[in-house]
Amino acid sequence: MWSLFLLLLSIPLSSSSSSSSSPSLHESFLQCLTFNSDKSFPFDSSIYSRSNPSFAAILESSAQNLRLLEASAPKPEFIFTPSTDAHVRTAVICSKKLGIHLRVRSGGHDYEGLSFVSEIESPFMILDLGKLREVNVEIGDNSAWVQAGATVGEVYYRIAEKSSVHGFPAGLCTSLGVGGHITGGAYGTMMRKYGLGVDNVLDAKIVNANGEILDREAMGEDLFWAIRGGGGASFGILLWWKIKLVPVPKTVTVFTVTKTLSQNATNILHKWQQVAPTTDENLFVRVIIQPASTNKTHRTISTSYNALFLGDAKSLLKLLARDFPELGLTRSDCLETTWIRSVLYIAGYPSDTPLEVLLQGKSSFKNSFKAKSDFVREPIPLDGIEGLWKRLLEEDSPLVIWNPYGGAMSDFTESETPFPHRNGTLYKIQYLTLWNNNGGDDKSVEARHVEWIRKLYNYMAPYVSKFPREAYVNYRDLDLGMNARNSTSYIQASAWGNMYFKDNFNRLVKIKTMVDPENVFRHEQSIPPLPISSSSPTSNIS
Ligand SMILES: Cc1cc2nc3c(=O)[nH]c(=O)nc-3n(C[C@H](O)[C@H](O)[C@H](O)COP(=O)(O)OP(=O)(O)OC[C@H]3O[C@@H](n4cnc5c(N)ncnc54)[C@H](O)[C@@H]3O)c2cc1C
Ligand SMILES: *[C@@H]1O[C@H](CO)[C@@H](O)[C@H](O)[C@H]1NC(C)=O
Ligand SMILES: *[C@@H]1O[C@H](CO)[C@@H](O)[C@H](O)[C@H]1NC(C)=O
Ligand SMILES: *[C@@H]1O[C@H](CO)[C@@H](O)[C@H](O)[C@H]1NC(C)=O
Ligand SMILES: *[C@@H]1O[C@H](CO)[C@@H](O)[C@H](O)[C@H]1NC(C)=O
Repeated sequence: MWSLFLLLLSIPLSSSSSSSSSPSLHESFLQCLTFNSDKSFPFDSSIYSRSNPSFAAILESSAQNLRLLEASAPKPEFIFTPSTDAHVRTAVICSKKLGIHLRVRSGGHDYEGLSFVSEIESPFMILDLGKLREVNVEIGDNSAWVQAGATVGEVYYRIAEKSSVHGFPAGLCTSLGVGGHITGGAYGTMMRKYGLGVDNVLDAKIVNANGEILDREAMGEDLFWAIRGGGGASFGILLWWKIKLVPVPKTVTVFTVTKTLSQNATNILHKWQQVAPTTDENLFVRVIIQPASTNKTHRTISTSYNALFLGDAKSLLKLLARDFPELGLTRSDCLETTWIRSVLYIAGYPSDTPLEVLLQGKSSFKNSFKAKSDFVREPIPLDGIEGLWKRLLEEDSPLVIWNPYGGAMSDFTESETPFPHRNGTLYKIQYLTLWNNNGGDDKSVEARHVEWIRKLYNYMAPYVSKFPREAYVNYRDLDLGMNARNSTSYIQASAWGNMYFKDNFNRLVKIKTMVDPENVFRHEQSIPPLPISSSSPTSNIS
């Protein structure tokens, strides 16, 4: 009775806002697209309103963090899946004209779901680039043009299809979308040899806030700098990257060696901190850390050394005998393979998986999670590591990954790209807590896990980078800068901005103010423009 009454009342009241207005906004958007575009294109089959039977499937398709798909998470009015670059620019023009906030999604791996959920804007739409996934490899030119909606797995596959001695240094997880991934840095197993994805970009095409398509020359070097690490969806919509291919040997070697607490894991990890960032840059050894059961009543900590070496097993064994004998690597731990098969190995696929799995273009493993990151500049002492073990053993399904830096990562100055975590960084830590709500929407389960990871983050503070405590923008974390909420948007943003970008934040703000003063491209942690009338926050922005 009450609910019926409220429902009747709410219809006229909400006609201009989120819940019951989807038909009209979606219709107007469709009309606007048709009017401003190829009139014969069947746009109605590329727009999914909430009442479309495929709406949920399209929304969920690439969304990686199930926490942001729960019933309580805000939903878009509609999703548009463009088929051409021109459709993307028309979508920007129409969303501005109709005043509907636009979120752009490539691979859907955003940790806080910012590509498909808005907690602050209503109504909003999703521009899903999943149909824009061409990869054109030019071996003779050592380059490739790749479209934003392609996954890194597709990029690797298309390179390997043409050459066994070329590769690209980006993410380990093969379902990442190059559109969002490379805008935030993009690290992977070859980072110590060649740097990040952003360090190997030659050109790009974007749609700017006016709906214009610009390449590197047209956008200028400031904007081209900003999009290579300044984070997704602040400066425009990335359509294409032109990437530089890098040489890889015909034979590479991979291994995974696991040590538990009774196998001296703590001491070996302590030593890893000194070795992994300084050893030969052809070697990348990350450590995957999680609790493991020894029997029904007893849990231990498992530390798995998971590595790629750009060379053969013999050279690797020699190198580790010199630099890291504590690991006890043997010939039988080593698997010699091709670079492209090492991609599958590091991504966790069984050894008989066909390479074509890279073309499936979507993730095969999803759950709900909350994550955080840190950068380490001084080795963590043994008692600090032991305190970490204690906290991990208290949580159901935590995961911590230590990722070595050094090598080529130190060849770039902090301001060369917006990604500032360079020389002096020993390694990066990623903390995750994962859970499965089994389709439920239990906020108390989520709250318990989130509280655990926040406490862990507080515990780690003395051991990690300070002033600022650095964080990786591609591990988007909306907790950062929370204590600065009560302030102007610039000061509030500088709290997380300095953590992600250090001094580069000021330059990002300046470029944002220049290219998107009205803040068309925005989300919970996008780079803010300065208020139109105000002057720069600091005098020495370059
Ligand atoms: C399982 C998993 C593994 C990961 N492994 C790695 C790794 O090995 N290395 C690494 O560096 N990172 C890794 N990440 C982090 C990853 O790089 C970021 O989540 C990245 O933002 C994902 O890009 P996307 O296109 O898939 O995500 P999306 O969710 O589509 O986008 C991420 C952000 O970029 C914006 N965006 C998306 N497309 C565009 C576009 N075309 N133009 C402008 N802005 C856009 C979105 O609006 C959003 O703000 C991993 C993440 C997950 C979930
Ligand atoms: C454990 O590792 C430390 C440091 O590498 C080493 O000194 C010690 O001998 C090792 N202990 C055992 C039992 O292997
Ligand atoms: C479980 O393993 C621990 C550590 O190895 C051991 O101390 C304990 O006795 C074991 N318990 C059972 C029931 O086997
Ligand atoms: C990195 O920093 C160290 C110590 O501060 C310095 O000795 C070294 O020259 C730097 N390397 C590069 C490539 O700048
Ligand atoms: C916000 O800050 C202002 C000035 O610093 C202060 O007066 C105000 O009480 C604060 N508001 C809240 C909600 O904390």
